[in-house]
Amino acid sequence: MDSASTVFKVQIGSGQEVQFTQLRPTFAAQAHGFDLSQPITDAQRDAIDQAMERFAVVVFSDQKLDDEQLFSFGARFGPIEGAGTTTFQDRRRLANAQINDISNLQADGTIMPADDRHRMSGLGNLLWHSDSSYKTVPAQYSFLHARVVPPEGGETEFADMRAAWDELPAKLKERVKGLICEHSMIYSRGKIGFTDFSAEEIKRCTPVPQRLVRRHEKTGRLSLFLSAHIGRIEGWQTPEAILLIQDLTEFATGPQFVYQHKWQVNDLVIWDNRTTMHRGRSFESHTYPRDLRRVTVQGSASTLRDCV
Ligand SMILES: [Fe+2]
Repeated sequence: MDSASTVFKVQIGSGQEVQFTQLRPTFAAQAHGFDLSQPITDAQRDAIDQAMERFAVVVFSDQKLDDEQLFSFGARFGPIEGAGTTTFQDRRRLANAQINDISNLQADGTIMPADDRHRMSGLGNLLWHSDSSYKTVPAQYSFLHARVVPPEGGETEFADMRAAWDELPAKLKERVKGLICEHSMIYSRGKIGFTDFSAEEIKRCTPVPQRLVRRHEKTGRLSLFLSAHIGRIEGWQTPEAILLIQDLTEFATGPQFVYQHKWQVNDLVIWDNRTTMHRGRSFESHTYPRDLRRVTVQGSASTLRDCV
């Protein structure tokens, strides 16, 4: 990539190339030259992987995809996670159990009422988090596709956890480098006052340990592994742990580390959950439908196996 420009070009064979235009100083890029409704070649997939290692968030515009095409595209990068953990399977709107329904819609297509339990829990996605950080093996890539977007609001913001680590004061780096955090959906929902879990859901949401600083398996770069799902740090008093995580999150989501994506219909955004956090922004969810759909590729190992 020419550092004077902001374009990263990758040859994909027979004189063809794809391009990625950088959107923010440290990360995020707009992809050019893809039609994701067609099966992608190995060279195209490798180009996207290269772009993800560099930019961590990649935006594809004007990609008209159905659920099957979205799933097939995501599956080119690895095994797809099952949707949800607290699960509201009785309320599922989508036929494919591996597609996450990121919408404010009920099974009949109408907007959820204000006190809907699924809606209440979903509001936790407005907190900064990394998808599936509460799973023993947390997520690698998320693929989010926009079908219906509100006239304003409902953006998604991303924060670069590699750049945040790089900029963290040296003393703080030393303090946090070896820490192990506990992640659970119960913790993130508790932060917005949602505690309406059944005994079975609580059991399914047993906290899992994750490193607070992790190393990317390919690039070797370190990044903060923060998430609203964190509720404890091993060996720490909980109030001190919560305050440290809050301070780190505030630092790591400063404007210099953030890209805000304003959704257009048929946008597809991929992000790397190992190196970024994200959050949804609010919109008039009682008035306007917002229908986004996500598939998520599993990571390869617990962060406890990282050598930091
Ligand atoms: Fe998310």
